[in-house]
Amino acid sequence: MLRKLAIRDFRCFPRFELEFDPEITCIVGGNALGKTSLLEAVVVLTRLQSPRTNSLAPVIRTGANGLVVDGIVDNRHMQFYYSPKRRKLALDSVEQKDAHDYLQVARLVFFANTDIDLVRGTGEERRKFLDFLGSQFFRDYRSILRSYDRALRSRNAYLKMTPARTREVAAYTRPLIDVGQQLTELRDSLVRRLEPKAVAAFNLIGDRDEQFGLEYHSGSSADFGAALAASAEEEARLRTTVVGPHRDDLLLQLSRQSAAIYASEGQQRSIAIALKVGHACLLESEFGRSPLLLLDDVFGELDIGRRNRLFANLPAGGQRIITTTSLAWLNDVPTGKLYEIKDDGARGRVLEEVSGSGF
Ligand SMILES: Nc1ncnc2c1ncn2[C@@H]1O[C@H](COP(=O)(O)OP(=O)(O)OP(=O)(O)O)[C@@H](O)[C@H]1O
Ligand SMILES: [Mg+2]
Repeated sequence: MLRKLAIRDFRCFPRFELEFDPEITCIVGGNALGKTSLLEAVVVLTRLQSPRTNSLAPVIRTGANGLVVDGIVDNRHMQFYYSPKRRKLALDSVEQKDAHDYLQVARLVFFANTDIDLVRGTGEERRKFLDFLGSQFFRDYRSILRSYDRALRSRNAYLKMTPARTREVAAYTRPLIDVGQQLTELRDSLVRRLEPKAVAAFNLIGDRDEQFGLEYHSGSSADFGAALAASAEEEARLRTTVVGPHRDDLLLQLSRQSAAIYASEGQQRSIAIALKVGHACLLESEFGRSPLLLLDDVFGELDIGRRNRLFANLPAGGQRIITTTSLAWLNDVPTGKLYEIKDDGARGRVLEEVSGSGF
């Protein structure tokens, strides 16, 4: 459970602190007041990455050198400092040389109003989703992914040189294949476990008469080495590695047709939510407890039926932190802490607890 969060030089916040309810915390406020940034800070604290950007540099407050996120999760004190030059991690005030133990403390799912991009967007969106889940599910996932990215970047850099440095390219081929095959195996096993959970969630949230299908689509063939060799000509022409896990995708189908083309907007939203609920249920069944659920302004996009079904189908007992611009739907929420975020001129952004709200 996340009890406290303190941030410094994070997005629009020079300094900010808040405490959370063990069950439901709701943060209400108008646009651009920093609601998404607060949820983003929870992700950066616990997973050391942002759900919004690939690098953490844009998250540092403009004009500052580095950001700090600090919080208490399950009575563990987590601290992370990041600047483009230096990063520092501490768990219970003990500096951590690597992130392994630190990343075991908390697992979470981030529901965003941009989740529909999982269906409509490019494969990169879906790979990011898989990687975010994978790095919480398998202890080694993150380091395997990083090794793959490093080998791929080096190999591509040599492919781009004129003339291409074939010896150096070849030197990176073996490590690329080895680590690429490990990554493929992990992703394949992850999608196999996710599929029944996401399908069950879709059947509860979406339309029962449409059949949702989810499959892992490998960016290479079963034999990555052979696929790489077979693509040599195209690779030389395009000067980049054209097969491999960096081309992986998730095949999302509705009644056996591509969901990006065939599904209605509401159905696409239901699929995106089903993927996220599936993500939450998979973590819950593997680790025996619900992950932390962050819901960023997702309710406005859903009709009342879907909204209630989403709420009813989230793993029970999971701590929820919800942001919204409008209180209109809050009648459905039983208990919790309610905050209003405001811009208070010289004092900057402040939180006011709306006490005894009885919402
Ligand atoms: N690196 C940064 N430094 C300073 N301010 C930033 C930085 N990045 C973003 N901002 C600003 O932070 C503010 C809060 O953004 P955020 O996305 O958290 O708002 P929000 O409350 O979620 O708004 P909305 O309801 O529109 O989604 C915005 O005004 C944004 O321009
Ligand atoms: Mg927002």
